[in-house]
Amino acid sequence: MPTVSGLSHLVISVNDLDKMVEFYRDVMGLEITHQHPGHMAFLTSDRTVEDHEIGLFTGREGDSNVLVHHCWRVASVADAKAFYQHLRKHEVPIKHCVSYAYPWIGESTVSCYFEDPEGNNVEIQAMVSLDPNIPDRTACVIDFDQSVEEITARAQRLVPAPLAARV
Ligand SMILES: [Fe+2]
Repeated sequence: MPTVSGLSHLVISVNDLDKMVEFYRDVMGLEITHQHPGHMAFLTSDRTVEDHEIGLFTGREGDSNVLVHHCWRVASVADAKAFYQHLRKHEVPIKHCVSYAYPWIGESTVSCYFEDPEGNNVEIQAMVSLDPNIPDRTACVIDFDQSVEEITARAQRLVPAPLAARV
């Protein structure tokens, strides 16, 4: 059975984005790595280790939908593919599989998003080295039915493909 190697980040829905960003930046001491004012912000304690440890998204209604998703690190693309197959075998609802470029750490992601039994969104994520010519926040869809070598090559080059939202 594939295993995870740790928790990467949490993303939560918020009522007051500015107030929450100020808290995590000024009180908790985190650094903003990416933001769309009025919509979302990513913050981290060390951008060389994690692009974002917490994501803050607008859209919270009252006390509901606080957690957007939680992400678990896996050690390799082979493990991510094994996880994908494991999820399929257990008929876990898979939402989408994507890769995102993080040029400042020279890596890109290989991620699969799925639902737990109560409908919470979960992500598993492996990292691969990134072609240094790929621009920030480039993304592409990942097909886990491809070989590990094909998935890795695609994530390293990241053929641009616009996505509705980064999660
Ligand atoms: Fe994520």
